[in-house]
Amino acid sequence: MKKIIITIDGWSSCGKSTLAKQLAKELHYVYVDSGAMYRAITLYFLRNNVDWKNEIAVIGALNNIELHFAKNDTTGQTEIYMNDENVEYLIRDLIIAEKVSEVAAIKLVREFAVTQQRKMGEKKGIVMDGRDIGTVVFPNAELKIFMTADNAVRVERRFKELFLKNPNITIEEVKNNLEMRDYIDSNREVSPLRQADDAMVLDNSNLTMEEQLQKALLWVRNVECI
Ligand code: DC
Repeated sequence: MKKIIITIDGWSSCGKSTLAKQLAKELHYVYVDSGAMYRAITLYFLRNNVDWKNEIAVIGALNNIELHFAKNDTTGQTEIYMNDENVEYLIRDLIIAEKVSEVAAIKLVREFAVTQQRKMGEKKGIVMDGRDIGTVVFPNAELKIFMTADNAVRVERRFKELFLKNPNITIEEVKNNLEMRDYIDSNREVSPLRQADDAMVLDNSNLTMEEQLQKALLWVRNVECI
């Protein structure tokens, strides 16, 4: 079977990364979580008090950031490293989620991330999830998936995930954060979140994980046979 590029875009907490990991495992593809790159950059900016409204400060900071993904041999999952530090868990914090959309809207930050994302796809056999993967990063990808789910379902999913780390978190906080990020992500000037014209839409509000995987695999098999 020929190797292809699969892009998965959509709203926050729609289950993009779950599907991307499922597909990567099934197809023996590389999985890249592009959002983790924006989160890691945000972590760097916050830690180093980078004034991201100042272009010179942003350029200087980006010059000091090296990002790469490596597999955790225990879990089998790919994790992100920033300047050789494993930041996979730190970047999932709500503190990062509150600022990441602002940072991800900066043109210089996007250029920095997109250049690296395109390199990762050079050999194909990749599943990448994010917001602009099918529209900007890989506009010629063989399979583009746009994921969506009911708002209440999305809030509940993200709440459960964050609650495990922080039992003080409230549903309201999670709901507000998702709404804010979706608004900024889809209204920003550079590469806003939007459905690619040739994307397959997957609404997983009422699908089990197995059902969503089977649906996507059918699309993959169709494309692979062309
Ligand atoms: O997928 P995520 O929630 O980890 O993404 C974190 C933020 O990064 C999200 O609010 C939007 C931004 N993002 C983006 O602008 N472009 C991408 N390709 C991936 C994420």
